[in-house]
Amino acid sequence: MSVAITTSTFGHILYETKNAIAYITLNRPKVLNALNKCVIMELKVAFEAAREDSTVRGVIFTGAGDKAFAAGADISEMLNDTPIEAEEKTRLGQALTTLIENLGKPVIAAVNGYALGGGCELAMASTIRLASETAKFGQPEVKIGIMPGYGGTQRLPRLVGKGRALQLILTGDVIGAEEAHRIGLVNEIVPSGGLIARAEAILKQISANAPQGVKFSIEAVNRGADTSLDEGLLIEASLFALCAATEDKKEGTTAFLGKRAPQFQGR
Ligand code: CAA
Repeated sequence: MSVAITTSTFGHILYETKNAIAYITLNRPKVLNALNKCVIMELKVAFEAAREDSTVRGVIFTGAGDKAFAAGADISEMLNDTPIEAEEKTRLGQALTTLIENLGKPVIAAVNGYALGGGCELAMASTIRLASETAKFGQPEVKIGIMPGYGGTQRLPRLVGKGRALQLILTGDVIGAEEAHRIGLVNEIVPSGGLIARAEAILKQISANAPQGVKFSIEAVNRGADTSLDEGLLIEASLFALCAATEDKKEGTTAFLGKRAPQFQGR
């Protein structure tokens, strides 16, 4: 099924599908792609569209301009938020990160500049993070009297370990691509200008594999990360059984034994 969502549907983001990839681009470059409530709501619609569109095999998530992926939640909008409004916005942001993390299709964050606060949190919810040489990461919220609110206190320690996460969150330090790569916050550093091409190449490689195998692998990793090893193994076994029920399993194993390339149908 193809869903009739295009860039014209949105005011603050761009949405385009091409060659089985959905390109979702934050588009407020004048304010370093700051995330106001409208952006968060538009991203929800865009990611849901990418999930429901059976022609889309993966998402490239990036920011417009050459300075930022996103410099965080929109501080000007935040200024007069009541605690109730702040809680509601945090919940919206957190729900978006959960949607991205569990989309069932790979989401590659192509971080082309600042990924701070909510920007870093959206990147962390993505399946894979690629950083340009000039990318910068951080959770500087304590510097403006708040704390991370789109999952940073939970996903950063899971990615880089508790000690490093606490140091970043408590100092508000902004780190460059090299350091982010060294601590495991990003998967790869890509020379400037090559970010989207590298993301496309990774998605092409993933898309050659069985869609259900990809989907269930993401689910097993995500669910397993929040449970005991025993429960994680049980989740893996159940999803493995579901994979075994697919036509693609028959096709993949038969193709291997027949020494030919598999033709996966996503069933
Ligand atoms: N919200 C609103 N506007 C922002 C913004 C943000 N998070 N970040 C940058 N902008 C705006 C600036 O106000 C400025 O607007 P004007 O031109 O109208 O003055 C424009 O973007 C360009 O920014 P700068 O002039 O500051 O650019 P710079 O190169 O000197 O500095 C920066 C870049 C270091 C990223 C700096 O902009 C900055 O520190 N931004 C804020 C980072 C931050 O604190 N993020 C966390 C936000 S809170 C959060 O995200 C909570 C959460 O967990 C959800």
